[in-house]
Amino acid sequence: MSVLQLALSWTSVCPLLAVLAAAPVALLTFWTAKLLVRHAWYTHRMACFSKPHARSWLLGHLGQVTLSKWKSNTVHHHLFSAVFCCLPAASITVKDELIYDHLRPWLGNSLLLSNGEAWSRRRRLLTPAFHFDILKNYVTKFNTSTNTLHDKWHRLLVEGTTNIEVFEHFTLMTLDSLLKCAFSYDSDCQQSSSEYASAIIELSDLIIERRQRILHHWDWIYWRTQQGKRFKKALSIVHKFTRDVVQKRLALISQKGVAELAAHRKRDFVDIILLTKDEDGKGLTDEELQAEANTFMFAGHDTTASAICWSLYNLAHHNHYQEQCRQEVMDLMEGRDVDEIKEDLSSLPFTTMCIRESLRLHSPVQAVTRRYIQDVKLPGERTVPKGAICLVSIYGTHHNPAVWTNPHDFDPLRFDPKNQEGLSSHAFIPFSSGPRNCIGQKFALAELRVVVALTLLRFRLLPGNDPKRETPFEKVRRLPQLVLRAEGGLWLQIEPVTQTQ
Ligand code: HEM
Repeated sequence: MSVLQLALSWTSVCPLLAVLAAAPVALLTFWTAKLLVRHAWYTHRMACFSKPHARSWLLGHLGQVTLSKWKSNTVHHHLFSAVFCCLPAASITVKDELIYDHLRPWLGNSLLLSNGEAWSRRRRLLTPAFHFDILKNYVTKFNTSTNTLHDKWHRLLVEGTTNIEVFEHFTLMTLDSLLKCAFSYDSDCQQSSSEYASAIIELSDLIIERRQRILHHWDWIYWRTQQGKRFKKALSIVHKFTRDVVQKRLALISQKGVAELAAHRKRDFVDIILLTKDEDGKGLTDEELQAEANTFMFAGHDTTASAICWSLYNLAHHNHYQEQCRQEVMDLMEGRDVDEIKEDLSSLPFTTMCIRESLRLHSPVQAVTRRYIQDVKLPGERTVPKGAICLVSIYGTHHNPAVWTNPHDFDPLRFDPKNQEGLSSHAFIPFSSGPRNCIGQKFALAELRVVVALTLLRFRLLPGNDPKRETPFEKVRRLPQLVLRAEGGLWLQIEPVTQTQ
């Protein structure tokens, strides 16, 4: 090839290379400009809301909202948001992609993540699965799972272990009981490792990790990382499990018929959602069924485990209340051959007050967020602009001194019906509020009462000690993740309660 020919071929290739190189730069410039215009527009529209001084015009208050800094004047704004964000109809707010999208590969377009008509149809179809009569079936299963946990604790005591990190124990316990309630499946996950239970824990941990790494928010990057690959692996285990359960159950129903199935065993969650039909006689498709079964497992296990752990933690730190609860449970059990909580959950009023106070002080879910799909006018000539994501701080609402006197104190008597007069219906929102509140709240409260009551009946609880800490009995620090945990775990000392005590 002559020098001239070579030069000519380069001149035709060079513009192509230049275009190829310029395209990403142009795209990046366009994307950054779009982001800055959007930022400026929202800053202008939100100027009507008072807010603390921001350290940076670009990052706003990012990193400024830490638990220790949530002083009274700031939390006041959060109550304000709670009242106005919970009340609008579900039709003008939707689940935002920033917080909820990472759950989509796992839960699909299920009750927790769907919006609009798809959500209301699901909510209508699933509500019967949480009816009081159905919950009664689950109470026996809560007792069984709690007994398994306590057998484990008795074995640990025999071995000389009294200081226990309770989060791990109760996470496995709530998974165990949910598997029994959802699928009538005995995983034995509290005693030996279960592939399905481990995969659920892995998925929850990976979602927390993903939220904390900004680059992992992009699917394209995430699925190429080690974490993304681990997520996919755990996901295939979980999805295969629910698919198999639903398919087997459908086969059983078509073989034996609904009536025979109902006659021979107590219905579980899958049975109920398999059989529910809307006004047009249409039920959920197989795919929708699996999504709801996955959601039941996701939304139900970590949240309830967190609530149980913090309830026991608060009682361990307030011995007089612990004794009062124990006495209440002992009175209920008097004359019974077996220690079993039956449908008499309402006979534990003081224990229930302690659980509610713990849900206030240590809410498992710290906040919920929503995207507004239309402008919403608030009192005082202020408007939340369409497209804005609004965070409702459950923590802020529950610690607002304008609503709760001495909000940081554990005082179960606040929940004595006598003391509730004049309290706003939005002052206590551990299960959120409004149309999209927690569908599983009665289920969770029933499980909490069974576990807390049986635990106090059999064990005396004292503050524990994280062996890795340099200063023993240092103050426990909150760790808000998907649910509220504690840095280094939550440690309790356990002692057996003897009959004569
Ligand atoms: C103490 C335990 C629990 C707490 C503190 C809790 C809290 C919450 C909160 C705050 C929400 C609103 C979430 C949002 O708007 O993004 C929610 C929704 C939900 N929860 Fe729970 N939850 C608990 C237990 C359960 C249980 C046991 C189940 C199922 C067995 C469950 C199923 C759901 C579902 C399906 C939703 C979505 C409801 C909808 O959007 O219509 N939760 N929960």
